[in-house]
Amino acid sequence: MEKKRIHLCMCRMSGAEKRFIDEAFAEEWVVPLGPNVDGFEADLKHRIIDNDPGCSGKEIAALSAGTAAIHLALVLLGVGNGDEVMCQSFTFAASANPIVYQGAQPVFVDSEPESWNMDPALLDEAIADRVAKTGRKPKAIIAVHLYGMPARIDEICAVGEKWGIPVVEDAAEALGSVYKGHECGTFGNYGILSFNGNKMITTSGGGALICPDAAAKKRAIFYATQAREPFPYYQHEHIGFNYRLSNISAGIGRGQMTVLDEHIAHHRMLASVYQELLADIDGVTYHANPSADSDANYWLSTIEIDPETTGITPDDVREHLARLNVETRPLWKPMHLQPVYADAPAYVNGVSEHLFGRGLCLPSGPWVTPEDVRMIVGEIAYLISSQSASLTCGSRGV
Ligand SMILES: Cc1ncc(COP(=O)(O)O)c(C=O)c1O
Repeated sequence: MEKKRIHLCMCRMSGAEKRFIDEAFAEEWVVPLGPNVDGFEADLKHRIIDNDPGCSGKEIAALSAGTAAIHLALVLLGVGNGDEVMCQSFTFAASANPIVYQGAQPVFVDSEPESWNMDPALLDEAIADRVAKTGRKPKAIIAVHLYGMPARIDEICAVGEKWGIPVVEDAAEALGSVYKGHECGTFGNYGILSFNGNKMITTSGGGALICPDAAAKKRAIFYATQAREPFPYYQHEHIGFNYRLSNISAGIGRGQMTVLDEHIAHHRMLASVYQELLADIDGVTYHANPSADSDANYWLSTIEIDPETTGITPDDVREHLARLNVETRPLWKPMHLQPVYADAPAYVNGVSEHLFGRGLCLPSGPWVTPEDVRMIVGEIAYLISSQSASLTCGSRGV
């Protein structure tokens, strides 16, 4: 019998999704608006905004993708042709691509080693240098909570405030992550979430924009529905987009919201099992909350492998586990190393490049069990010990 495939993070339905979808079919709400879209937005707001007095006034717009949410944030912040936008280099391309959609120029900023996210001090230096070189301030800052690990987002926002530059907080991977007692996605001027198939919850594909107030949400929805002006005929005075979430997808989202806390708890439980077991392996470091300020959702469990200590590389582990039907993945390749962004200015300190060479994402989703984690860590330990055994044999000339 073929071994079960262990995925990095596969979606898991609660069962409640079907009821919301059936209702949409029964009422013929098969369009990109309707009761499920309103209900999903209300559920998200209840979960992320309503319990935090510091977030009062914020609103959430459900959209067709997290990428669409970043794009709309930039549109609403007036980012346009020739503007510069500071962006975390260590991320998925979707954080940066919307800058280019707007005809603007990404300027990449490297990470600090504790959270692996944007280094606030380097951001400050980079902005000073951009202002000196171009005579203009960058128009926005895009910071990311990579793998669900909170960035030092309060410090990043403080740099933004110092320069008068708004922050877009990419919390695509960080639904449920908390920093200094507040939900990730609620610190910046705008925050974004993703409900892609591999995220903490899914709508099959979808995203959300966390807006500073109701007026900003109204404007986001205006641009997300082709910027149609309020005339009886179709009048357009701005370029718009088709970015609203379908009422069917939103029905999946409503069902998924019933298991969000369960999913987050599961990811955190797996993280603690990985951490406990990996603590015994020299040269393999689990990427854990760097301090009590951070409470990651551990969307993906990630490790650093020191080839000098272990005698193996992340690729050795990836290939070995692939033979056992276990999916793993190298860490994100930094944007400043991507051919498509070869000409973009970048302020680097070596952190993301170092991590890219040594890191690996391990299975973490709702279908992964503690027994799977034990097997995966056991295989990593086995690979290291067989490597050191072959080195010992080699040194004896066997
Ligand atoms: C860090 C990050 N930003 C943005 C996105 C884009 O989200 P989506 O796939 O929903 O467009 C993703 C995920 O796909 C992501 O991982």
